[in-house]
Amino acid sequence: MCGIVAYVGNRNCKNILINGLKRLEYRGYDSAGIALLQGADRKAGSPTNIEISIIKEEGKIRALEREAKELKIDGNCGIGHTRWATHGEPTQTNAHPHLDCSGRIAVVHNGIIENYAELREELKKEGHKFISETDTEVLPHLLEKYYNGDLLFAMQKVLKKIKGSGAIVAISAEHPGELIGARIASPLIVGISKNENFLASDMPAVLEHTRNFVVINDFETVRITKDKVEIFGKEGKLIERESFKVNWNIASAEKGGYEDFMLKEIFEQPYGVKETMRGRLIDGKLNFDELNLSIEQVKNLKKVHIIACGTSYHTALIGKQIIEKWAKIPVEIDFSSEYRYRDPIVEDNYLFVAITQSGETIDTLAAIREAKLKGAKIVAITNVVGSTVARESDSVIYTHAGPEIGVCATKTFTAQIMVMYLMGLYFARVKEHISQSKCQKIIEELEIIPNKIQNILNKADEIARIADATYKFTCFLFIGRIYSLPAALEGALKLKEISYIHAEGYPAGEMKHGPIALTDTKTVVVGIMPIDSVYEKILSNIQEVKARKAAIFSIITEGDENTKKYADYVFHIPKTIEELYAILTIVPLQLYSYYIAKHLGRNVDQPRNLAKSVTVE
Ligand code: G6P
Repeated sequence: MCGIVAYVGNRNCKNILINGLKRLEYRGYDSAGIALLQGADRKAGSPTNIEISIIKEEGKIRALEREAKELKIDGNCGIGHTRWATHGEPTQTNAHPHLDCSGRIAVVHNGIIENYAELREELKKEGHKFISETDTEVLPHLLEKYYNGDLLFAMQKVLKKIKGSGAIVAISAEHPGELIGARIASPLIVGISKNENFLASDMPAVLEHTRNFVVINDFETVRITKDKVEIFGKEGKLIERESFKVNWNIASAEKGGYEDFMLKEIFEQPYGVKETMRGRLIDGKLNFDELNLSIEQVKNLKKVHIIACGTSYHTALIGKQIIEKWAKIPVEIDFSSEYRYRDPIVEDNYLFVAITQSGETIDTLAAIREAKLKGAKIVAITNVVGSTVARESDSVIYTHAGPEIGVCATKTFTAQIMVMYLMGLYFARVKEHISQSKCQKIIEELEIIPNKIQNILNKADEIARIADATYKFTCFLFIGRIYSLPAALEGALKLKEISYIHAEGYPAGEMKHGPIALTDTKTVVVGIMPIDSVYEKILSNIQEVKARKAAIFSIITEGDENTKKYADYVFHIPKTIEELYAILTIVPLQLYSYYIAKHLGRNVDQPRNLAKSVTVE
């Protein structure tokens, strides 16, 4: 997830672009850049007088702004980008815009080009020179390759060559006063105004200039000048599309119209999970080169040790279950803060996996250093490219959830779970503990998980009603078994974090060893009980707490009529494979804590006493 803004009109646009990027900083903030067509305002001037000037900086937009102030360049056609790295560290070189060999085409891009490695090799053989590590840099070179005097035509050819996702905007010194845009699966909108037009990833970037918009759809391209917007369909045919007006203010537009970042991020999960699959699941095949482990090394793996904190620790629990079940490799897990102070054993053929959305958690970092000293090979799973954990690990698997602004981990959690599924399946295939047909069945199911999450989100109102009926209760016990236990623990953690109500997550079978003493008329027991191999067991546990007057809220599988006899409230989730329920059951629980916290008037994006990255012990 990155942010794009582009301008064409009569005004000098350096500051328009920089201000637009500031409004998009919630989409990414590790580096930023702009490219301007210098001299584009000389209408009579031939294109040869025109050149592209680029300013790029590592870090927040403020750094770019400072640099841009110093430089006496400007132009009335330009593109800007704020980056959330997916390929290549957040450095000045990797920041967008990227140029072709001639320096006359500049491109910004938001998304992932899955086949970039192959395209890069092809282009290199043809003599193109690359300077960054990004997937994006293939785009200006492809445009250069296909350019025959018409940049739009070249863009349409490029769209046919690339696989993956992207919103792309290009400018060329040969076409002053023209923006060319394209979209595959990443948002791109046109802002329309008098004598000037805009392209952007999202409305806040340009809301101060216009409230008139047109949305670009997948596989469409667009040519924009200061007084014309032409949209072309997949086959290159001109499309007529009406613009629409919005009356949002900038703050609500940044949140995509949602009340809080947390809610927005919960709703972004189908996208985050899908992006995390990208490049790892190509045409039904698993690819995990980024693990940096040879087939032999995977075959010989004797133990996996996963460490993490907070929500990421719940991902570790899921990882343990999945890797042990599918790949038959024993998995040990630890809280990072515990690992570093006990005397853990590192053996041969041992893999150390650190999960951390921020990549900066001090305890996780210390645990990595400890394991490294003992000779372990470290794999990090993180959402932040170039974070300290990423830099200190031997290999990194990035979750592509996009920046998470809410303190509560939501979309980074489901993206991490997806990595666990893909990695578990990959190990299982290499170790030949899972048949090709079973693997295929799981892959097919993984591919439709984003739709199933969407199906749950479409029923968010049902959860809001259950929260409405239960938010005054004072004790919440979340119970689950096997694959539903991590979701129970995470559900309780979410509720504690943002509502400040006492909540506990517990293995359902352990209830009678303590927590059942807590149940009374002020207690809600949330049973995570999809139809799986332990369903009957948890159904009995639910009846036990029902008999002690607790209110019951059950997360159940579509078609389950039985649980309704005992539960006061139920929410249906789509059916899936037993091992995959965790990535679905957590979504209604995130929504449940959100709505309860809102009822109680809490600040869900910045809960008291908590921080997004915990960099102190
Ligand atoms: C903080 C955050 C949590 C997160 C935990 C671990 O407590 O508020 O949302 O789960 O840190 O963070 P990490 O970045 O290591 O996943």
